[in-house]
Amino acid sequence: MAKIAPSLLSADFANLEGEIRKIEAGGAEYLHLDVMDGNYVPNISFGAPVIAKLRDKTDLIFDVHLMIEKPERYIENFVKAGADIITIHQEASLHLHRTIQEIKSHGVKAGVSLNPATPIESLKYVIDDIDLILIMSVNPGFGGQSFIPTMIEKIKETRSFIDKHNPQIILEVDGGIKLDNVQEIVKAGADLIVAGSAIFGADDVVERTKEFYNLIV
Ligand code: DX5
Ligand code: ZN
Repeated sequence: MAKIAPSLLSADFANLEGEIRKIEAGGAEYLHLDVMDGNYVPNISFGAPVIAKLRDKTDLIFDVHLMIEKPERYIENFVKAGADIITIHQEASLHLHRTIQEIKSHGVKAGVSLNPATPIESLKYVIDDIDLILIMSVNPGFGGQSFIPTMIEKIKETRSFIDKHNPQIILEVDGGIKLDNVQEIVKAGADLIVAGSAIFGADDVVERTKEFYNLIV
């Protein structure tokens, strides 16, 4: 069964604890945390100190998505902050295999994200080492963008790739996911659905989280 990972990027940054309580009440098990450095992506969001403070407030699974250059510099910081999953970008880490090993050496799940134009085959030689693949269905950097339609085909190809090479891997999809396209994305093979503006932009965040779950069960 697919699951929802609400992205805190679209939440009210002045009331993060309150926002977390709402998605918990809606049934979420994951919290997607988008870290942006203003270099790998044009935007800046928040870093490890914010995540560490939130760790004291909730038992949600912390799904940390690092959109930063040379993420190998900061793995330990995010482990200490309480990440359960650390996902780095294939395009951002020169020695990808080494960075994956470092994440895993801390007992944390290792994910690799691919931008829309990066082929799934780029993960062929690390497929046995990773726990999660994150397919970006928008160009990373901002919430509220539109889903890129060709990513449906990429999700299907990634599903086959995972089933063939390492079926344990979680297939996560991130960007432009709304109530009206989530079912198609799950049908294409996604296990974990990131939704930011579609959840935290809703008038009733608790109800909207439940609506997402009702559509994918
Ligand atoms: C984009 C981030 C996403 C973002 C998704 O770079 O990685 O996680 O929060 O936002 P929506 O769901 O609004 O497209
Ligand atoms: Zn993300």
